[in-house]
Amino acid sequence: MLRSRILGCGAYLPEKVLTNDDLAETVDTSNDWIIERTGITRRHIAADGELTSDLAFSAAERAIAAAGIPANEIDLLILATSTPDNTFPATAAKVQARLGMRHGVAFDVQAVCAGFICALSVADKFLLSGQARIALIIGAETYSRILDWNDRSTCVLFGDGAGAAVLRAEESAGNGADRGVLSVKMHSDGRNYDALYVDGGVSSSQTAGHLRMKGKEVYRHAVVKLAAVAGEALQAAGLAPGEIDWLVPHQANLRIINAVAQRLELPAEKLVVTVDRHANTSSASIPLALVEAIEDGRIKSGDVVLMEAIGGGFVWGSAVVRW
Ligand code: ACO
Repeated sequence: MLRSRILGCGAYLPEKVLTNDDLAETVDTSNDWIIERTGITRRHIAADGELTSDLAFSAAERAIAAAGIPANEIDLLILATSTPDNTFPATAAKVQARLGMRHGVAFDVQAVCAGFICALSVADKFLLSGQARIALIIGAETYSRILDWNDRSTCVLFGDGAGAAVLRAEESAGNGADRGVLSVKMHSDGRNYDALYVDGGVSSSQTAGHLRMKGKEVYRHAVVKLAAVAGEALQAAGLAPGEIDWLVPHQANLRIINAVAQRLELPAEKLVVTVDRHANTSSASIPLALVEAIEDGRIKSGDVVLMEAIGGGFVWGSAVVRW
């Protein structure tokens, strides 16, 4: 039996930082309001001309270096993004070429903030089926380009960034202590299409459009759905919440993160939180948080990591990985 093991992760944040106070100079908001409702203090914003593919490439280079494998051994590249460079080709194609990956397949997946879990799920299936041997998954976003900077209810919530992971199919030891992806669960419910969406698009308006959100509705669904799918992923992995070392949630909002952790009865010390400094970077938020917790020594070999995310659609999912 094969298991998909994560060999290394990498992340990239654009240099420019936009604080809550900076925002308060252009929209009717305040540092206190944003911190109280979301936990966010600042976010990174891509420079003019810095594209989603640039962020993705930088994160990918770092993940490949951390994994210690040559880029040309990768035979699957999945890029999760809802802010692609162009309508087509896939942004993954640009990254594939820049990395010098000359075989296998590269494509994008679009599951909004659940994109990294979706990419992980698809990569896991490719690796377990033998269709690929080494996968690179990336979450990369430039939400600053689809925000309505006059809409205080949304523009304060998001930031730009990218994160990536390299996975390899390895033989399972079969003793129940395998390192790697233990379970992934995903769901969607398209009836909530207009709770969180972009009001543009090629087919509908031939414009890029702006992000629109029914904040309270998203909040309500997020807490219930994330706790439920995390429970499913844990059950599929044969683990109880008490056996989790780290919860690495999608970083949308500190209140959502805490409410889900509470439902799972996970103490605050087990939460990896970056939303305060990154804001919501959509598909990039989980790998950005993973990298922080790996680099500061929190996530160690053998630790059990639970991830969960929800995005527009809604689409949501959860994964359990033994590091
Ligand atoms: N600064 C100051 N006041 C604001 C701001 C702001 N940035 N934004 C909204 N307000 C005002 C509103 O206009 C409203 O004023 P009113 O009472 O005079 O009408 C008041 O604050 C309360 O607004 P609500 O929308 O009711 O505020 P709420 O407590 O629901 O918080 C928030 C809003 C933070 C968006 C919350 O609904 C939330 O966290 N929702 C989840 C959304 C989310 O995280 N989305 C991320 C994308 S989805 C994902 O990744 C899971």
